[in-house]
Amino acid sequence: MFVQRHIFCALSLGVAITTVSSFETEPFAPPVFNVTELSGLPLASGLVFLTPLNLTAGSAVIMTGSGDLVWSSEASGSYTNFLTTSLYGQPVLTFWNGTGNANPLISGHGYGKVQILDNTYTELYSICPDLNLNFPPAAIRYECQADIHESVVTDRGTLIVTAYNYTQADLTSINGTADGWIYDGLVFEIDIPTQEILFSWSAIEHVPVNATKLPLAGAGSSADPFDYFHINSIQPVGDGFLVNSRHTWTTYKIDSKGQIEWEFEGSNGGDFELPSDGEFSWQHRVRVEHVTPEGLVLHMFDNANANRITPNQTLGLDFYLNLTSKEATILKRLADPNEPLFATSQGAYDALPNGNVFMGYGELPVFKEFGPEGDVRMSTQWAGLDASSSYRTYRLDWTAQPAASPIVVARAGSAFMSWNGATNIAGWEIYEGETADALNLTKTVANDGFETKVSISNSTQFVQVAALWGHYHGSARNSSVVSVS
Ligand SMILES: *[C@@H]1O[C@H](CO)[C@@H](O)[C@H](O)[C@H]1NC(C)=O
Ligand SMILES: *[C@@H]1O[C@H](CO)[C@@H](O)[C@H](O)[C@H]1NC(C)=O
Ligand SMILES: *[C@@H]1O[C@H](CO)[C@@H](O)[C@H](O)[C@H]1NC(C)=O
Ligand SMILES: *[C@@H]1O[C@H](CO)[C@@H](O)[C@H](O)[C@H]1NC(C)=O
Ligand SMILES: *[C@@H]1O[C@H](CO)[C@@H](O)[C@H](O)[C@H]1NC(C)=O
Ligand SMILES: *[C@@H]1O[C@H](CO)[C@@H](O)[C@H](O)[C@H]1NC(C)=O
Ligand SMILES: *[C@@H]1O[C@H](CO)[C@@H](O)[C@H](O)[C@H]1NC(C)=O
Ligand SMILES: *[C@@H]1O[C@H](CO)[C@@H](O)[C@H](O)[C@H]1NC(C)=O
Ligand SMILES: *[C@@H]1O[C@H](CO)[C@@H](O)[C@H](O)[C@H]1NC(C)=O
Ligand SMILES: *[C@@H]1O[C@H](CO)[C@@H](O)[C@H](O)[C@H]1NC(C)=O
Ligand SMILES: *[C@@H]1O[C@H](CO)[C@@H](O)[C@H](O)[C@H]1NC(C)=O
Repeated sequence: MFVQRHIFCALSLGVAITTVSSFETEPFAPPVFNVTELSGLPLASGLVFLTPLNLTAGSAVIMTGSGDLVWSSEASGSYTNFLTTSLYGQPVLTFWNGTGNANPLISGHGYGKVQILDNTYTELYSICPDLNLNFPPAAIRYECQADIHESVVTDRGTLIVTAYNYTQADLTSINGTADGWIYDGLVFEIDIPTQEILFSWSAIEHVPVNATKLPLAGAGSSADPFDYFHINSIQPVGDGFLVNSRHTWTTYKIDSKGQIEWEFEGSNGGDFELPSDGEFSWQHRVRVEHVTPEGLVLHMFDNANANRITPNQTLGLDFYLNLTSKEATILKRLADPNEPLFATSQGAYDALPNGNVFMGYGELPVFKEFGPEGDVRMSTQWAGLDASSSYRTYRLDWTAQPAASPIVVARAGSAFMSWNGATNIAGWEIYEGETADALNLTKTVANDGFETKVSISNSTQFVQVAALWGHYHGSARNSSVVSVS
């Protein structure tokens, strides 16, 4: 049961309309999904994890593919990298929560903490690292210094984050000054319980400023540091890392000492021979799979499109990199023929367990799922193209029973109930009474999306509900007893 609210968002391009849901039981305003292009062929299992900006405010939300809300954080600012993972053998949720925006036209980086919740939504860890960063003179010096772009828990139970450091560099190789200012791109590995820094890597110590594809365009002063590298993804690979730079169009494999083992660059291949239709630029979320000493599969969200300088269509690209012959071969080149999209920034490509590929379009409020042959199996949009964004969007399996109790709100004639984050509610028992201590079970109803509405008797003064948990037959969780308002 939800009401759709229209939010008018004034833009330079005109007026965009964004529709969100609203509820009686919670203040949340999740997006309304417009699901199209369903082919009827199988989609992967799982829920959709997104961090939609600019609806009523930023929140992290879990939705079903058909658009029912499952869980929402409170709307308290900026969230990114909202996903599930495993920590010490236990399924957990992780997300970045801080200040900043992943869009380089707005701020391009951020400062925050990484929170880890268990499958009752109880916080296990909040990692607010002091990374010894330097800040521009007039800027706020943030206490929690993990950047917006990457936060990933490793198999060894550590946390990897990106960071942006305001520092000096010689910019003469790109016609800047010798005492110029840049944002360095940093990698940190952090011990989760102690927040001790186990590993760090600095781009400027390994990659010269003239590797950038971003024009200096007057930047590089202390007031306007040059974002020459723009680190946006890190993947732990063996005892080293894959580090992706949007602004050098390059992904770097570094070893455990931080030395670059190889580079894969988007205009000439770097250490690899690039096929003619394999060019990429301004790319996001580069990941490798099936890594052997001979080769690996590498995929990316190829924005191919920064500041509309090169208006190429955004693609999902999947390569085989032969580490012996140093040849790159294209395995997949994913685009929707019915809807060319041009995402200037952000976005993600994820290989799903059933062979499908899920792509969130970052700057654009769109996600699509492709079949193993590159066929479009689903396309979802949740706002006008310029009216919302989600840094990355994922499809992930998740089962959770919240520690908090279900909520019921009763009005004359109706009761509304929800249980934020519960993934397996089979139905609801409704208890009604004229006094709070004499409640009777009056009906059992099926669950209906995030919020279920039932009619109640006119004589009812007090209501309590019990959520019936689908996985454990007979087990229920009660709300508190509320009076009819
Ligand atoms: C949903 O998307 C389709 C295809 O883009 C469009 O024709 C339709 O108008 C959209 N519906 C809503 C409610 O926005
Ligand atoms: C995000 O951080 C803010 C500020 O510390 C906090 O109030 C909020 O509860 C956090 N969000 C979640 C989902 O924990
Ligand atoms: C950040 O830059 C400052 C100024 O150059 C430097 O002193 C500091 O060590 C740097 N921090 C890191 C983590 O590289
Ligand atoms: C630097 O200036 C020289 C001379 O004007 C020009 O040829 C060169 O392309 C410039 N390099 C960059 C990176 O802008
Ligand atoms: C960068 O500058 C160095 C000299 O400082 C030069 O050797 C190198 O070829 C340049 N690289 C690029 C990509 O222009
Ligand atoms: C854009 O597409 C054109 C033509 O397909 C290609 O030549 C060019 O290299 C592409 N640019 C980028 C940045 O990928
Ligand atoms: C990789 O390249 C080597 C050397 O050319 C070749 O022998 C090998 O078959 C290639 N591997 C794959 C999987 O293509
Ligand atoms: C979204 O929010 C950011 C940060 O609050 C703001 O700078 C940006 O202009 C907003 N974008 C839209 C489309 O409203
Ligand atoms: C409600 O239940 C009580 C026993 O708990 C019973 O005495 C009473 O008659 C019931 N009322 C109705 C209206 O069924
Ligand atoms: C309950 O109240 C509504 C609105 O006041 C009224 O229309 C309806 O007839 C009432 N039902 C009963 C069974 O009294
Ligand atoms: C829930 O509340 C009802 C009515 O107060 C009560 O009969 C029932 O035993 C409670 N169930 C649980 C699981 O606590």
